[in-house]
Amino acid sequence: MIICAGTVLIDCIITASGTESVADAITLAPGGEAFNEAVSLARLGERVRLIAPVGHDAAGDMIRTMLNREGIELQSVYDGTTLVSLLTVDTDGGRRSRVSKAHSLAGYHPNLPGDGFSFVTMASLFRPPFLDPADCLDFARRVKSFPGTMLLADTKLPKGTDPQLADYRKTLALLDWITPNEAEALHYTQTGAPEEAARVFRSYGVRNVIIKLAERGCYVLPESGKAFTVPAFPVECVDGIGAGDAFNAGLIHKLSSGTVLTDEKLREAVLFASACAAVSVTKRGATAALLSAAQPDALLRQFIHTAG
Ligand SMILES: Nc1ncnc2c1ncn2[C@@H]1O[C@H](COP(=O)(O)OP(=O)(O)OP(=O)(O)O)[C@@H](O)[C@H]1O
Ligand SMILES: [Mg+2]
Repeated sequence: MIICAGTVLIDCIITASGTESVADAITLAPGGEAFNEAVSLARLGERVRLIAPVGHDAAGDMIRTMLNREGIELQSVYDGTTLVSLLTVDTDGGRRSRVSKAHSLAGYHPNLPGDGFSFVTMASLFRPPFLDPADCLDFARRVKSFPGTMLLADTKLPKGTDPQLADYRKTLALLDWITPNEAEALHYTQTGAPEEAARVFRSYGVRNVIIKLAERGCYVLPESGKAFTVPAFPVECVDGIGAGDAFNAGLIHKLSSGTVLTDEKLREAVLFASACAAVSVTKRGATAALLSAAQPDALLRQFIHTAG
């Protein structure tokens, strides 16, 4: 079983031009990195448990219904308000989001099951519930107390806080994988290029680093030290939001199979992850496009055919 720990929320999305009182559309959509990863992993055929704060309210009931439909188990010990955010999308492309005080997740601590899992993802580091360095370390230590369990952390840019990498030193040393996007990697490492940023993460003891570079693909610095890049698949991008979560789901799906990770297997896993992300950008919505492993598999076959 794979555990996705972190955030799930309901976005209320208002698509409107200017300040007119009648919007083009007002919709509700589930989101949050842990939720997005969990949905993609379940569709790739994995057994998944989401560990996230889901309250006993209407938004929480919506999330439970969606998780049931996707066959995802939920583990939530939480008495607070389910997170709801307001996202205004201007028809000219501008976006503004508004969150509430509930998003600080004060007092919420993700709790792990007794056993039965092989891979855990923190989605995402530097945002609640993985903002406080002591909470992060406590979680990472609990994960790594299960021998052989792999721990991956995605990241987000800070919001109203200024997290410093050095304060997360002990947590970073327990990570098997970190998967920031370029802006996040450069921000937290105070560097100017993905290669340098990856080296900084490695110097903190993270075993493997993948820096996601949107339409430029990704840069990988594995434990073996043999860095490589994988270009993005040439697809028409309709909406890049959630690409990183689909990427992580594809990566985890391949890495969690339990075989020994050679450089070749790693490259195959990253290619599959990139294919999942490429599928995900072809439709609006973080989890709208990627429905099964057949889509990234088809993209890979097409790519290998074209390259060959
Ligand atoms: N336009 C695109 N075309 C093809 N693949 C893309 C495109 N944009 C992103 N990808 C793929 O998705 C991966 C992750 O993208 P990105 O760097 O945007 O992550 P991210 O910013 O963490 O995304 P998010 O946080 O919104 O989920 C990239 O490494 C690439 O493989
Ligand atoms: Mg991301």
